[in-house]
Amino acid sequence: VGRELVCFEETDSTNLQALRLGEQGATEGTVLVAESQRGGKGRLGRHWLSPSGVNLYTSIILRPRIPPWDAPQLTFLSAVAVARAVQQVCALPARVKWPNDILINGRKVAGLLNELSAETDAVHFVVLGIGLNINMRADQIPASLRYPATSLAIEMDRPLSRVEVACAVYRQLDDLYHLYLNEGFDPIRLAWEACFDLVGEKVRVESGDRTLSGIVQGIDTDGALLVAAAGTVERVLAGDVVPVG
Ligand code: BTN
Repeated sequence: VGRELVCFEETDSTNLQALRLGEQGATEGTVLVAESQRGGKGRLGRHWLSPSGVNLYTSIILRPRIPPWDAPQLTFLSAVAVARAVQQVCALPARVKWPNDILINGRKVAGLLNELSAETDAVHFVVLGIGLNINMRADQIPASLRYPATSLAIEMDRPLSRVEVACAVYRQLDDLYHLYLNEGFDPIRLAWEACFDLVGEKVRVESGDRTLSGIVQGIDTDGALLVAAAGTVERVLAGDVVPVG
């Protein structure tokens, strides 16, 4: 990861650029990084605020030989990579939130957006998109966000080297990706569950018009959240998970 590096002063979105480069045959491990994004993409069509010079906006192109239904596994891989990099550089208690946010003390510090180019039974390439708030100040965070947000600098009370943090993320990604290629999803799943506070806890899951209460068991091979409720284990594919009591 990172042998090929493409840097932008400003771009529409590193994910969009990575999708374009991927179609043009960019090699596995190509890293794209931007100082700022005009159209940073968040999940569910949301906008990802991307002010210049303070945070990390990056996309990584991978070409694993996996079927498309295994592609969500890479989101969990990137979540573990970011959480570990934050723990390593800052010694902060970074935790994961299902399906793909990174939190510190309950506030969102990073978001992940993975995109896929695939045919019916084969992945061409995957784009791992990572937005990590590093030196953003509290007054640069809009109060209107869906979740309370934070940055590493806010949590540490001092600015950090963005290069150091970014390199830690790429190194962790590299290690975890090799582990994934050699040993499959199981070690990644276990590592992710070790960063997830809700295994064994009672939760309420709200997805669309359905609400489910039960005990979190972990995640399935396709990234579904496993919740034990009324004597069976339910698979939850999307929704908000709220701890109960
Ligand atoms: C989320 O909604 O939580 C996911 C946010 C993902 C943002 C990153 S920033 C780098 C990459 N390029 C994008 O346009 N989005 C991702």
